[in-house]
Amino acid sequence: MTAIVLYCRPGFEKECAAEIQEKAAWNEVFGYIKLKKNQGLVEFHLYDEGQGDALMQKLPLKRLIFARQWFITLGDVIELPEYQRVEAIAETLGDEFRYEELRVESLDTNDGKALSKFTRKLSVPLRQALRKSGVLAAKESEDFVEGAAILHALFFSGQQVQLGYSYATNSSPHPMGIPRLKFPNAAPSRSTLKLDEAFLHFIPKGEREERLTSGLNATDLGSAPGGWTYQLVRRGMMVKAIDNGPMAESLMETGQVKHYQQDGFKFRPSKKNNYWLVCDMIENPIKVAKLMASWIIDGDCKEAIFNLKLMPGKARYQQVNKALQRIKDMLGEHEVWYEMYAKHLYYDREEVTVHIRALGKR
Ligand SMILES: C[S@@+](CC[C@H](N)C(=O)[O-])C[C@H]1O[C@@H](n2cnc3c(N)ncnc32)[C@H](O)[C@@H]1O
Repeated sequence: MTAIVLYCRPGFEKECAAEIQEKAAWNEVFGYIKLKKNQGLVEFHLYDEGQGDALMQKLPLKRLIFARQWFITLGDVIELPEYQRVEAIAETLGDEFRYEELRVESLDTNDGKALSKFTRKLSVPLRQALRKSGVLAAKESEDFVEGAAILHALFFSGQQVQLGYSYATNSSPHPMGIPRLKFPNAAPSRSTLKLDEAFLHFIPKGEREERLTSGLNATDLGSAPGGWTYQLVRRGMMVKAIDNGPMAESLMETGQVKHYQQDGFKFRPSKKNNYWLVCDMIENPIKVAKLMASWIIDGDCKEAIFNLKLMPGKARYQQVNKALQRIKDMLGEHEVWYEMYAKHLYYDREEVTVHIRALGKR
């Protein structure tokens, strides 16, 4: 079998499946889905196996909202012996292809997490063996050339592993697509990690100095108690924090935050020097989408990061698509040139994070 395997948040397999089927079909690639509920894994089995590799190159992973990471399978799941597992994997791989890096992975479930000690231990001799046989590059590289491949070994148990590969320039740099971020003790709420991850995901490393830098002005709608504001302040920005609720004293003491106890749907900055807009208000996603688009259209921000909170009981992939379409329609009508990406980030739950960057007028 040849399948594209996609990792997502457990419970979002249906959304991830609907999305890969739709976006593969746009590329005239068709297949059927296999998934197990709450495993955080979707298999897209290709009718024409020969199309898989091209799709892995043509369809940008960053265009998939619900998939955190993906790879294309190399053969079926391997049943490993009790001893000499490394040798068994190395033998299956042969020496025909060369990979730049190895990702030893497991599922984002309790069983998967319980395996992490085993996978961490095994990854050392496995890496050594594959380097020795020339299957794996001798050193990990920072910059990948087009076509560089990553080898994935997804362990379902100590006895079962699925091998596969992805392209380094079109996959997540994090195993299973999960960045491990440290919760900063000084942050007033855990949701701080959502904006930290969003910046990491949406803003390329080489551009952070310019786009996430001190001196920029930012507005945070629905800011209390200040987890998101903390991320802006930490990067040296001046923040207008909009919320009826109280902001953490520690943030107010920095002198970088001005708190407005106002309605986030009505507030607008008085000057056109605001760069970032971030918004974490728990509201109808269409209402939020319209608000975000209108800030971009009016020139009240250059970049926006916001959450679309998914409403229970409604098809979640459709909800996101509808909100994104509303933004596209509004920006299109006003002839705004922009880029927009959406991702169900690791620290997101019943919400999807969206990034819009205004690039000027057409
Ligand atoms: C999920 S919390 C935000 C958490 C915040 N991002 C953090 O990291 O600490 C949502 C906030 O949105 C605020 N909110 C909801 N509707 C609002 C509105 N119309 N105007 C301003 N704030 C609003 C709520 O008071 C609440 O504090």
